[in-house]
Amino acid sequence: MRNIVVLISGKGSNLKAILEAQRDHHWDAQITRVFCNRPNAPGIEIAETFGVPVTVLNQQDFINRDAYDQCLLSQIQLEQPDLVVLAGYMRILSHEFVDYYAGKLINIHPSLLPSFPGLNTHQTALTTGVKWHGATVHFVTRELDVGPIVAQGVVPVHNYDNLDTLSDRVQAIEHIIYPKAIEWFLKDQIFLQDGIVSVIPPQSQFFS
Ligand code: GRF
Repeated sequence: MRNIVVLISGKGSNLKAILEAQRDHHWDAQITRVFCNRPNAPGIEIAETFGVPVTVLNQQDFINRDAYDQCLLSQIQLEQPDLVVLAGYMRILSHEFVDYYAGKLINIHPSLLPSFPGLNTHQTALTTGVKWHGATVHFVTRELDVGPIVAQGVVPVHNYDNLDTLSDRVQAIEHIIYPKAIEWFLKDQIFLQDGIVSVIPPQSQFFS
């Protein structure tokens, strides 16, 4: 049985999709704990509904980023995770943290990387007029939003879209690709060579 921890900051819809997949697909893994940096995040209630313990580490209770990250790392280490899943975790992790969990730390980003790293990706998609947008599951490396890509989900951008319609469409595909990528990881199907991720036996890492 593998151990997974999930880090959240907000709504927790990806957390919910992951918990549902773990339950419905009988993963040989348990989500042992959810960590959250915001005491009022709605995702906390989702974890509790599924009976998963939550640790809230409020950034305001720490004197600086290093102190926060050291505490977070030591608390996560107690879970002995095989995989650390960032699901809308809106804090940049320290290099120490990223290095410690290298190869076991994944994130979902709401764009087709390498397009639109950083924040406000849906707004950027609308204002640049791209016709395709989507989400990317990737390994986390020191540099923000550039780690090896595990899976991408693509959605169309329509002229009548607004932030809500577009982000809803992207989130719907996030909820498909993130559990899928985690399943590959749990089945040891993910191989990383020269910064490129392959899934063995080969299958599409592209979703639409
Ligand atoms: C998602 O859009 C994800 O791509 C980004 O943060 C958002 C989290 O949403 N990293 P939720 O909290 O999982 O609903």
